Amino acid sequence: MMFKTNKITWRSPSNIAIVKYWGKQGKQIPMNPSLSFTLDHCHTETSVSWELNSGGGIQFLYDGQPHPTFAEKVKKYISGLQLPWMDDLALVIDSKNNFPHSAGIASSASAMSALALCLVSLEEELNGKGLDICQFRTRASELARLGSGSACRSVYPEASLWGQTDEVPYSSDLFGIDWSGDLAPEFKEVSDWIFIVSASEKSVSSTAGHKLMEHHIYREGRIAQARQNLNHLIPALRKGDWVSFIQICEEEALSLHGLMMSSRPSYVLLEPDSLRIIHAVRQFREQSGLPVTFTIDAGPNIHLLFESKYESAVQEFVSRELEDFIWPGKIIKDKMGKGPERIS
Ligand code: DP6
Repeated sequence: MMFKTNKITWRSPSNIAIVKYWGKQGKQIPMNPSLSFTLDHCHTETSVSWELNSGGGIQFLYDGQPHPTFAEKVKKYISGLQLPWMDDLALVIDSKNNFPHSAGIASSASAMSALALCLVSLEEELNGKGLDICQFRTRASELARLGSGSACRSVYPEASLWGQTDEVPYSSDLFGIDWSGDLAPEFKEVSDWIFIVSASEKSVSSTAGHKLMEHHIYREGRIAQARQNLNHLIPALRKGDWVSFIQICEEEALSLHGLMMSSRPSYVLLEPDSLRIIHAVRQFREQSGLPVTFTIDAGPNIHLLFESKYESAVQEFVSRELEDFIWPGKIIKDKMGKGPERIS
């Protein structure tokens, strides 16, 4: 199957959570609300080519090549969506990441959001009816969530909030919302330098980690902590308060790993180098007085977050203290980005 016409392409970025989504129930409903920054560089580009009245079928290619494991996941995801217009449609989906799959960076957020955006564009075309930008993103976010929770936050520029909270009108467990309008100027130009501590496959997937939260002894405490952190993060982002931001950001990152270490069975994803970088960052902050902080995803890699205007000072620190990371491929220098882009 290869179609020359009827093709939609979206490029969608990854995102990094400040307040973490960890634990879920039912159909991808988060245990607690989360808030993330959208990245600029790390993205997935996905094309969906389609043909009508062709008896159906989905072919999935990763970077132009068949990839049976991903293909199975994508087919299961699309059939689970039960889109009524899908039945008689044949699809060829071609997807690629611009960051190495082995880099240990979560690719599900960019991959599932790129695919969901293509599906919503396709739905619009088949219905012959366009959605306004807000409806479009909400629909894409909802479909993305069903593929991977964190993906629902990738469809927005700069920052997104996912999960119902009384503090934020229109917040929902079903989709992320745009939070870019609430950022103070101090949070508009944020760098995220990702230190690739290990590029190997994670020993425990995020999906398995979420599951371990169902009966976690700290479950209720974690829900309370995440809600409280979100309630403090919101005014900090609105006011440009990096001091509070740093405290919340690091507590969330280390709590996430604390929850993994205290799961039953317990597991550890941090590596010695992860801890080395954390200590170095804290020491640098103390000595320089610069508001530089870190966060961590469900893996060993460390995300260094700071206002982009401090880039040269941070570069100097890295060259001096973390010299073994200056080699190509050891740091991905990303930053807050403008959200997904339709390519065709
Ligand atoms: C630690 O979105 O990858 O990155 O919904 O099972 O696909 P699934 O999980 P996923 O979990 C991401 C967890 C996290 C925190 C976050 O991004 O909020």
